[in-house]
Amino acid sequence: MTVLNVAIVGSGIIGANHAEAIARHPRLRVAALVDARIEAAEALAARLDPRPSAHLTLTEALATAKIDIVSICTPSGLHIAAAQESLAAGAHLLVEKPLDTDLAKARAFAKVAAEAAGRGLVSAVVSQHRFDPAIAAVLRAVRAGRLGKLTSAVASMPWWRDQAYYDSADWRGTWAFDGGGALANQGIHLVDQLLALLGRPAEVYARTALVSHERIEVEDLAAATIRFESGALAVLHATTSARPGLPVRLAVHGTEGSAILHDDQLEYFHTAADPALTAADLVPPEELYGAAKAPDGFVTGHLRQYADIVEAIETGRAPGVPVRDGLLALGLVRAVYVSAALGRAVVFDEVLDGALDDVEPHTQGVTP
Ligand SMILES: NC(=O)c1ccc[n+]([C@@H]2O[C@H](COP(=O)([O-])OP(=O)(O)OC[C@H]3O[C@@H](n4cnc5c(N)ncnc54)[C@H](O)[C@@H]3O)[C@@H](O)[C@H]2O)c1
Repeated sequence: MTVLNVAIVGSGIIGANHAEAIARHPRLRVAALVDARIEAAEALAARLDPRPSAHLTLTEALATAKIDIVSICTPSGLHIAAAQESLAAGAHLLVEKPLDTDLAKARAFAKVAAEAAGRGLVSAVVSQHRFDPAIAAVLRAVRAGRLGKLTSAVASMPWWRDQAYYDSADWRGTWAFDGGGALANQGIHLVDQLLALLGRPAEVYARTALVSHERIEVEDLAAATIRFESGALAVLHATTSARPGLPVRLAVHGTEGSAILHDDQLEYFHTAADPALTAADLVPPEELYGAAKAPDGFVTGHLRQYADIVEAIETGRAPGVPVRDGLLALGLVRAVYVSAALGRAVVFDEVLDGALDDVEPHTQGVTP
């Protein structure tokens, strides 16, 4: 059994989570850790067995160790530079969400990743909740037509992040490195799930606001309506200003049935074709929480995505969350910001294709 060597770039909070997930996968090993603060890479290396090498730059890591996969866990605005270097060096790629903060860079990178796929290199964007048993079951049901034609969805993330969270690192809450606030950083998981369920958006109308934090450039509250190309309509709400912080909720409705995910569980499921079928039939009770709420649930999510990327490398199939999906998620986040900045509805394709690249996002401040 060949073991694939992984280099983790960015040895902060999520870099450590990647290291734990990799340690649990029999085919993977952390071979190198990179961090602009070498002490962060050294400290994480000291916790791992076998101990990986520690480096200040990805260039140094690639020159020192044989690397099969690069996992990018730096602040979001630094993702694509490292992703390009990784593919140029012939490594497979897993890049943390969001794909980057800059849609123009992401658009160009999607082409690079597509070319690299032609050379057999797998590139994936982290969206670990896509692999949760509950959403996976709903996606299967939707693709099998069990909900009929999807007509609408309501997605809500009423989370709480205190000021200390935003103060904990210079890059948090900045346009350049965080790419936005509650929607770009936390809500992007829901955005990705909406896109997986409902397909390509056609039009977005949004408002954003900064309502309960200081010293950040970005929004801590976003609300949007989205019309999809299919004709389905969705309501999207994402905030880090909802104390004490409540679970994410996603309801999806169609002509033949409905599903409600609450706190990553399948709370409700109905299909007219088989009215006796319940949520418990689709996701066995022991998996209802999909281990996501277990103490190590954060690691389990990433482990599932690593299992997906290893299988993609082995079989030559596309990964579960390809760069194209990361680009669409970033495009939808940007469409919300552009709509909020312009105060009008925007055509999704105009945002994605670059026609509105010069619109500066800004956030309306509301003193609580
Ligand atoms: N998938 C998820 O659920 C999830 C959760 C948290 C964070 N993230 C994503 O992970 C990324 C990092 O978030 P975090 O919370 O770990 O941040 P963090 O600040 O804890 O860690 C970032 C690390 O990157 C290092 N770094 C900065 N510039 C670098 C460079 N040029 N080269 C190498 N290292 C560099 C920093 O020193 C720091 O140690 C973000 O993109 C974030 O959106 C994803």
